[in-house]
Amino acid sequence: MKIDGTPYRTIWQDARGIVQVIDQRWLPHELRIVDLQSRADFAVAIRDMWVRGAPLIGAAAAWGVAVAMQEDPSDAGLAETWEVLHETRPTAINLRWALDEMVRVLRPVPPELRAGVAAKRAAEICDEDVEINRRIGLHGLEIIKAIAAKKPGQTVNILTHCNAGWLATVDWGTATSPIYHAHEAGIPVHVFVDETRPRNQGAQLTAWEMNHHGISHALVVDNAGGHLMQHGEVDMVIVGTDRTTARGDVCNKIGTYLKALAARANGVPFYVALPSPTIDWRVQDGVKEIPIEERNSEEVTLVQGRGADGKIQLVQISPDGTPARNPAFDVTPCELVTGLLTERGLCPAQAEAMAAMFPDLKAAM
Ligand code: MRU
Repeated sequence: MKIDGTPYRTIWQDARGIVQVIDQRWLPHELRIVDLQSRADFAVAIRDMWVRGAPLIGAAAAWGVAVAMQEDPSDAGLAETWEVLHETRPTAINLRWALDEMVRVLRPVPPELRAGVAAKRAAEICDEDVEINRRIGLHGLEIIKAIAAKKPGQTVNILTHCNAGWLATVDWGTATSPIYHAHEAGIPVHVFVDETRPRNQGAQLTAWEMNHHGISHALVVDNAGGHLMQHGEVDMVIVGTDRTTARGDVCNKIGTYLKALAARANGVPFYVALPSPTIDWRVQDGVKEIPIEERNSEEVTLVQGRGADGKIQLVQISPDGTPARNPAFDVTPCELVTGLLTERGLCPAQAEAMAAMFPDLKAAM
């Protein structure tokens, strides 16, 4: 996507051959670009959320393997790299998907050739992510068009949670891709952006994206969604996912489940933008089987923002010593999902339908 006229992806190789990323910890206040030059750099960048969002985590892990192959291309080095990168974040399945894919491609290759082959596959994974998300957007556009057709001359109101925007992928985003396509097609859309405590990916990242792309939007606190839906102010909800099970249970940023419940109670369609690498075919029951990342409690007790002096700072919002819990994701059962927007089209959140849409991927497991 373009920022002030300059096209960006979230991760790329520069003219020196060095991998660069947007360091998302400083948005929306500063657009910082950083070099990632070692396996350790990639592990820190994923764990500490310089890069985040399931598809981007996968893309970064693929590049992490490529850089690691420059350091140690041996079988032992490859196995150790899988372990080191895999333990960075437990919930987004794209991480494992990308690491497994890199190992599958590299294992038959002689060690001295692995760095080159790995860089090529990492670049392909990035390009594939862009194309998957573009297609998700085109399928989602049809849904937005159908809603627009039922309310001629009026705006289509969409609520989204967290950041499943282009910053969470290599480009386009998943949940935002239909929104960007609708905007480009001239359909008036308005986006309610959940702030998404505790890390405020909505306030900091989705709002930044909407601002830069000139899309009408309003930031709302996480608790506002139910009220807006009750009053007919939301035509559809669309969110991303960190891992969706073979029967369509959707694991996504904490608070997604509450939005799905409110949507069901108010007859609002609830769509999940789902790239196929985010499907975990080995898992059925998302509540029981998906590991939920529990992050540092300081993410709950401290809030980051820009002070009046222009400096980025952390502010404590609870009494000294108050304990906090910080589960980072929740699971929305498949019954609450209106449809899964995949690169191959809209799919019911249901085991048989998913297997029928992706017979090749299901069989490969
Ligand atoms: O903790 P994060 O910021 O990595 O969580 C991101 C989300 O939950 C996104 O909604 C999800 O990864 C989908 S991104 C297309």
